[in-house]
Amino acid sequence: MSFSFKQSGLATCMNVTNSGFHKRLISTICSRSSFSPCLNLQNPERRNLSVSKPLHISSIEKINEKKPVFECKAYEADKSQPIEVEVKSEAAKRLKIGIYFATWWALNVVFNIYNKKVLNAYPYPWLTSTLSLACGSLMMLISWATRIAETPKTDFEFWKTLFPVAVAHTIGHVAATVSMSKVAVSFTHIIKSGEPAFSVLVSRFLLGETFPPSVYLSLVPIIGGCALAAVTELNFNMTGFMGAMISNFAFVLRNIFSKKGMKGKSVSGMNYYACLSLLSLLILTPFAVAVEGPQMWAAGWQKALSEIGPQFIWWVAAQSIFYHLYNQVSYMSLDEISPLTFSVGNTMKRISVIVSSIIIFHTPVQPINALGAAIAILGTFLYSQVSVPYMILRNTASNISQVLI
Ligand code: 3PG
Repeated sequence: MSFSFKQSGLATCMNVTNSGFHKRLISTICSRSSFSPCLNLQNPERRNLSVSKPLHISSIEKINEKKPVFECKAYEADKSQPIEVEVKSEAAKRLKIGIYFATWWALNVVFNIYNKKVLNAYPYPWLTSTLSLACGSLMMLISWATRIAETPKTDFEFWKTLFPVAVAHTIGHVAATVSMSKVAVSFTHIIKSGEPAFSVLVSRFLLGETFPPSVYLSLVPIIGGCALAAVTELNFNMTGFMGAMISNFAFVLRNIFSKKGMKGKSVSGMNYYACLSLLSLLILTPFAVAVEGPQMWAAGWQKALSEIGPQFIWWVAAQSIFYHLYNQVSYMSLDEISPLTFSVGNTMKRISVIVSSIIIFHTPVQPINALGAAIAILGTFLYSQVSVPYMILRNTASNISQVLI
């Protein structure tokens, strides 16, 4: 856990008299370069941590990341930093996040459109999934070689902790692509909006975590809405439905493993996703060859080319490039924002994809089917509102207890 303090020359208002806590806090604080050297905390005989200015917790976010968990500021008394500067930097941050979100959703919509176009003409989801990962890996290898992007410093331990993340990412990616090869893009994303329900169920039954009743209640509209959308889906297909469900399960596991794998690592969101792509590509390729194989791919390729024409190649390239780009931007966003903001952003993304794919592919939608989708999406919003603040508080409490013990 990291603390960031600001001070002024006014009142003393934070006293920590617990000596165990004090010692750990000293070592924690003194190891951070952000801590003001003016505070004399090096003396182990001193029993009080005193700062000469009112402190308040101004933000609690980015749990388990290198940025501050608590940021204790004293705006009221701090005359050294003009408020205008802070307002400007806050506005700049908001603008940056807004640009990330808009880019993420736009890239995701484009990916989904081209992915479906390719799958309609060339129904080999194992190969198209592999091509997406291969394209992203190649783009990043070139970026590292030409120094467009900084090459990540990794060790064996990094790749070892990345492995379960990559397995889950591979399964989630293939399962979603198989789903989209069998059903409408909108249906896959309606079922994928049920991911929070999987998150809670996996945490409850596999990890033994408990949640407040409001979290369980928020799952009712998610599960109910998805169920209503599924039973009223005109082109329901069991493989398509199960693909989206497996993808949900795999991505929940990926997020759990990711959290552990990212802990204390200095690899950026962009490079973390690049490494994930490389490892997933290595895992997926032999399975794609075994399940579909070059003979089927070659015959299907000729057929698709003859039916669509040379632009089919552009579709394949576009779905591969946009897959990597949207994932890269989403991991870059995750570097900048809290889980709550990310979760709301992901739901908004699904709305954009559902609406745009229904328009572009003229997907038939019954009112009751649309109602199911709307209930599921609303449930996801409710879930993010009640669960993420609770999880942040829980993680913060856990971090505090680690300091106190
Ligand atoms: C994939 O192919 O990996 C899925 O389309 C991912 O979907 P998501 O990023 O919207 O969960």
